Amino acid sequence: MRILVINGPNLNLLGSREPDVYGRKDFRSLQAFIRQTAKSLDIRVKLFQSNHEGKIVDAIQKASGRFDGILINPAAYTHTSVAILDALKAVRLPTVEIHLSDISARESFRQFSYVSLYAQKTICGKGFDGYAEGLRWFRELK
Ligand code: DQA
Repeated sequence: MRILVINGPNLNLLGSREPDVYGRKDFRSLQAFIRQTAKSLDIRVKLFQSNHEGKIVDAIQKASGRFDGILINPAAYTHTSVAILDALKAVRLPTVEIHLSDISARESFRQFSYVSLYAQKTICGKGFDGYAEGLRWFRELK
C-alpha cells in the first residue's frame, strides 16, 4: 500500500512555530515519526510539504494511479481552499484529513474545513499520533 502524505503551509516550522499550540517537536521529527509508523504498518509513504496551494494541487493530481490514498494536513488552506477540495474530488482517492490541534476548539475561522467536505475521515487535536491513527485507518481499508 502506498500513501501520499501532504503537509501544508508553515508546518515546516513545527517546533519553533507557536509551540503552545503545535508542540515543541520539529518537522523532521514529524517526518521520522510518520516514516517509522508507516514502516511498522507495512505502508510505503511519500512525504510532501509545500507552502504553496498550487503545488499541493499538483501533488494531489499526480497521485492518481500512483497512490492508494492521501493523508493530508492542509494547514491554513483547510479553511480557504476550494482548489484543494476540488483536486481531491477529482482524483477520488481515499483521504484522511489531519490537524495537530483541535480546530473545533479554536478561532471561529478555523472551525470550517473545505477538505472535510471530501475527506472520509478527519482527525484533530491528537498531535503526531493523529498521523499514526490516519495511517492505521488506511491499513484497515485493505
Ligand atoms: C493546523 C490547523 C490550521 O488551522 C492551521 O492553519 C495550521 C495547522 C493543525 O495541524 O492543527 O497551520 O492544520
